Amino acid sequence: MKLSTSLLFIIGLTNFIMAQSTFIVAHRGFSSIAPENSLSAFEAAIECGAPYFELDVQASADGVPMVIHDETLDRTSSSGHTGRVDHLTQSELRQVHVGYPSKFGAEFALEPLPTLADALALAKGRIKVCVEIKVSGIEEAIVRDIQEQGMDSEVVVFSFLPDVLRRVHELAPELPLLFLKEQASVQDLMRCSELNAGAIGVGGRTTLDAAFVQTAREAGIQIWRWTVDEPDEMWNMLAVPVHGLISNCPDKALRLIE
Ligand code: G3P
Ligand code: CA
Repeated sequence: MKLSTSLLFIIGLTNFIMAQSTFIVAHRGFSSIAPENSLSAFEAAIECGAPYFELDVQASADGVPMVIHDETLDRTSSSGHTGRVDHLTQSELRQVHVGYPSKFGAEFALEPLPTLADALALAKGRIKVCVEIKVSGIEEAIVRDIQEQGMDSEVVVFSFLPDVLRRVHELAPELPLLFLKEQASVQDLMRCSELNAGAIGVGGRTTLDAAFVQTAREAGIQIWRWTVDEPDEMWNMLAVPVHGLISNCPDKALRLIE
């Protein structure tokens, strides 16, 4: 069957509008080309034109927010350091390099382990930042870092931990919040409302069926989805459409939208 020109135009316009409503988030920075959660990965996210990057925050022994995904240094360290992040002070963590040698060899061997303040300073005015808080107890320090940079309107605070989101909201009700859930249900959307989170971040085990999407829409909750690296899945997510598409390959997602 031959599609008429006007039908093709409508399909094209619909796709264009769907894609325009989705933001691409560089997961742990542009982490497919530079070590995750490194300043190089954040700079690469900016250069590729992503509107947001995401990062993970753990606490040093002296309560400084440090940007690293794991509780330990072992997986990404390129300076021979191992052990728990929260057993070392900020000045000790300053000696650690995070070049992720098992993935990138020696190319990024001297990459420093950033503080949250370092990452925010790099991003300010250039890209928005999704700050994922991995542990409780450092909410005050994180809010202070964000406010000292004057970046209240340039961040979204993510967490899997409801109490962390509650505390951040008490400290800074103006900060946008996103509740993370690997396998989210309609009940979790209700949880977002209780937590004052305007968005839910869902993992790959969540079924984005019509009931879920409709309930989110009615409750005014945005849906963000991580981690989407394959074009077919990206396309499915744009068709939902999700509000935020979180990817290790933001370049691919941006090309798809273009
Ligand atoms: O942004 C959500 C996603 O980053 C959560 O999972 O393990 O990559 O921090 P993880
Ligand atoms: Ca994360």
